[in-house]
Amino acid sequence: MEKEREKIGIFDSGIGGVTVMYEIIKILPKEDYIYYSDSKNNPYGDKTEEQIQKICNNIVQHLIDKNCKTIVIACNTASSKAKNILRKTYPKIEFIAIEPAYKMVYDYAFDKPTLVMATKGTMESEAFNILLKKYNNQKTYLFPCIGLAEKIEQGKEQEIKQYLKMHLKIYQNRVENVVLGCTHYPLIQKQIQEVLGQVQFFNGAPQLAKHLKNVLKKKNLLNQGEGDIEFEDSQNLEINKKRFYEILNEMGKEG
Ligand code: DGL
Repeated sequence: MEKEREKIGIFDSGIGGVTVMYEIIKILPKEDYIYYSDSKNNPYGDKTEEQIQKICNNIVQHLIDKNCKTIVIACNTASSKAKNILRKTYPKIEFIAIEPAYKMVYDYAFDKPTLVMATKGTMESEAFNILLKKYNNQKTYLFPCIGLAEKIEQGKEQEIKQYLKMHLKIYQNRVENVVLGCTHYPLIQKQIQEVLGQVQFFNGAPQLAKHLKNVLKKKNLLNQGEGDIEFEDSQNLEINKKRFYEILNEMGKEG
């Protein structure tokens, strides 16, 4: 009997992780995926470490039950607060975890003033502070974007514009790099640029996708044949399912 194909599970507090998913399927189109959107617990950004760890543990259990042997934490907040404990709890599962692309600034644009945008949870996390200390360019502004991921999740265009205008205006002409430290933020790059002008964005997703591919290759886990994408939402929100596939499609057209 043919062995059931193992899947890659990807999760976020909602549909933001679609920006990670997009980079992954671009280079791994033959894999089978389950994307899990946890709209029920959205947002993660202001939850305690304990709450996040409990939520993530439940999602991981669910994805393991669905035959996922590799799990991508496509949420910076979840990753910064729960990746260590998840790796300890599930040693047989390969966890690939996103983090704000601050090291990329160090590698490619160290001398430029930098704005890091992330949730409050990510910014307060030990994991992010280790990263910041290690790669600090001494020209870095930190902005915890309280409430922004929720607005993106709900597709509130006008509110997003207002929010960015109100909070980012002070960085206009002061920063050249912007680290998109939440997986929802690549969806609003244009709007950020409308306020900040031409800045260079740093997004950890393409790097993560390459890393995932290397890991699967090394472990001889790469699939062949047609790939499949399944979408699940913790509240069965049809609107999230629709938006997820729409965004994936749109991103594909933009390249
Ligand atoms: N997309 C998430 C992140 O990367 C979480 C946003 C939230 O739920 O607050 O941090």
